[in-house]
Amino acid sequence: TPKDPCAIVIFGATGDLAARKILPSLYALLCSGRLPDPSIIIGVSRSGLSHEEYRERTRQALVESNADMKCWEDFAPRLFYRSVDVNDVGTFTNLAGFIKDKESEFQTGGNRLFHLSVPPVAYEAIAQSLAHVGLAHEKDNWSRLVVEKPFGYDLESSRKLAAALKEGFKEKQIFRIDHYLAKETVQNMLMFRFANSIFEPVWNRQFIQSVHITAAESLGVEHRAGFYDHTGVLRDMFQNHMMQLLSLVAMEPPSIYEANRIRDEKAKIYRSLRPFPMDSLDENLVLGQYAAGMIKEKSVPSYVSEPGVSPNSTTPTFASMKAYIDNWRWQGVPFYITSGKRMSTKRTDIEVKFKEVPHSMFRNILGEHITANRLTLSIHPKEEVMLSFQAKTPGPGMCLRNVTMNFDYAMGHPLRLTAYEKVLLDVLMGDHTLFWRQDSVDLCWSYLTPMLKECECEEQAERLHLYKAGTDGPKKARGDW
Ligand code: BG6
Repeated sequence: TPKDPCAIVIFGATGDLAARKILPSLYALLCSGRLPDPSIIIGVSRSGLSHEEYRERTRQALVESNADMKCWEDFAPRLFYRSVDVNDVGTFTNLAGFIKDKESEFQTGGNRLFHLSVPPVAYEAIAQSLAHVGLAHEKDNWSRLVVEKPFGYDLESSRKLAAALKEGFKEKQIFRIDHYLAKETVQNMLMFRFANSIFEPVWNRQFIQSVHITAAESLGVEHRAGFYDHTGVLRDMFQNHMMQLLSLVAMEPPSIYEANRIRDEKAKIYRSLRPFPMDSLDENLVLGQYAAGMIKEKSVPSYVSEPGVSPNSTTPTFASMKAYIDNWRWQGVPFYITSGKRMSTKRTDIEVKFKEVPHSMFRNILGEHITANRLTLSIHPKEEVMLSFQAKTPGPGMCLRNVTMNFDYAMGHPLRLTAYEKVLLDVLMGDHTLFWRQDSVDLCWSYLTPMLKECECEEQAERLHLYKAGTDGPKKARGDW
């Protein structure tokens, strides 16, 4: 539980993310006794609202998120509102005055958490204005800046953004959220790999045939066409979540569990990624876009007919890539990384396919060869670990069958934090383990940017495979392609 009293300032306080995730999470932290005491929350956005009006909006948002309102009387008096124009530094001077008044009234010790729940184009201006009015400064207090992905649009814009944030805030003050890292089963990957001695000896090129990292969604672009149509799946999912999953499955164990040691190991993986072979792009990358189809027996439109999407759009909604890590552990092992929208079902998992036995004298009941061992770390829909192996089919014959051993991660542990509760708690405690460090952001952009540039040129349209909504994506990208 965080001990330091603080002021939590939410930019974009009247937006969707604040209403659906941030405020309900802060409220849940208060109810479970995890919000520091004293602490205050200041919502900031452009609209002119009174404190009372903002409290009422928040109360409604909590009711809509099915929160138990028993702590509301404790939460409401900590909640304030200020109107700020992000392009007008003068309004930041007023904000700084307001924050300082409230800090002395509530004795929050000058500790400040600024959560930027606004479109990324506004990050630079807000961070610079906060620094300009002295709110980024740390002496006997802390000041932390929380930003959401996307961190730039390509390598150049990411570096530019990082430089702008760092004019006011040091790296140790910046927390770049990736909500995948807050998922319990994603965190469990480190324990699974490094707290068990039986898996580590086989976790390498000698025993592993291939690794498959998948985040399939049945949802389409929903109401986010404006953002998604110039983002596409590679920026939306690969530059962040998929790369995190890749590093967790591939990294070396650090000697201690400490944020920078872990992030060093992840950065080493990104540094070892074999540069994408631009001369054989099509053999290593499949891009797709969903066409009309059926999801759960309901017809859904094609991507280009979604409201807000350009009818000639060549934005990929699906990508599958074959990546290689050039180090001793992983030389020659393909990592198939796949993500797409409007696929048959929502499924997020990592499947490790082991090599076949050198020679098999057994067959299944149909006389067929049987597949090798597989280990699946499943994140969604079930949180489980599954190990499939071969056993004898009961009966008189000597026939093989494939069986699976399951571990249900959540069984017996219903009380858990949501992803946002977890990340907010970690920011309040100053723990960077679950957040991106800028060097890794840059390394991943270095890997992806050449591919993005190539795919965004005119031949892109030919490269794009249409796939029917509700299927498993383009045929070319199924299995070990
Ligand atoms: C977000 C992407 O970061 O992750 C969305 O912007 C995507 O497009 C979402 O739907 C997937 O997250 P989850 O937790 O549902 O797998």
